[in-house]
Amino acid sequence: MIWGEQPNPTAMKNPTTLKTALKIRPIEPHDLPAIASYWNGLNEKEMARIGVDPEKLPDSESIIQTLSNQLSLPIPHRNSYGVIWTYNGLPVGHSNTNPTQFGEEAWIHLHLWRQEFRGKGYGTKWMIDTIAHMAEALKLKKLIAEPKSDNFEVQGVLKNCGFELIKTHRTVPGSINFEQEVNRFELSLK
Ligand SMILES: CC(C)(COP(=O)(O)OP(=O)(O)OC[C@H]1O[C@@H](n2cnc3c(N)ncnc32)[C@H](O)[C@@H]1OP(=O)(O)O)[C@@H](O)C(=O)NCCC(=O)NCCS
Repeated sequence: MIWGEQPNPTAMKNPTTLKTALKIRPIEPHDLPAIASYWNGLNEKEMARIGVDPEKLPDSESIIQTLSNQLSLPIPHRNSYGVIWTYNGLPVGHSNTNPTQFGEEAWIHLHLWRQEFRGKGYGTKWMIDTIAHMAEALKLKKLIAEPKSDNFEVQGVLKNCGFELIKTHRTVPGSINFEQEVNRFELSLK
């Protein structure tokens, strides 16, 4: 369904063309099955790489229900607020906050669903627009990210976007994660 149209991510190098091709927009109800498919399509190696415990990952129906509940709330009351990353209009990834303290701070997460779009600098470009959008929509003073300390791609994006490394520590960073060493990054938006 989503991949009926096959994009060619390597063909895009020109900055102007890229600016036109790479867009973000708020998550809408029709995006939820694709997000659930991303999570439940991860294999064990991919889950281990990003620190997800397969035993803790909800099934697709529960993911859709939880996200749908969030979408039904007014933005200031949401624990999770998200955007879709599109490539020539095609949804190829998402970024969301969770938890979120409207008017204060939020933890941010980012996921490019398909391998062929990764490592081309696109994540950084989408993330720059995502940060500006989240800051405005959620009136944030600070964004926080706590990736697994050996996930260098996400840390590269965070550094490119101006996040600062605050500390390294062991924790269970979220409800679907196992205990792991994480690097805490913060970005002041004041
Ligand atoms: C994380 C993710 C969104 C990044 O998007 P991306 O388009 O692949 O990232 P980019 O190509 O924009 O940039 C990655 C940066 O990390 C750097 N990087 C990648 N691998 C690296 C490594 N092994 N060591 C050091 N830096 C590395 C790249 O050089 C680049 O920095 P640069 O622009 O200064 O060269 C994407 O890879 C992804 O979705 N991965 C799987 C899911 C995931 O890990 N999500 C995060 C969970 S916390």
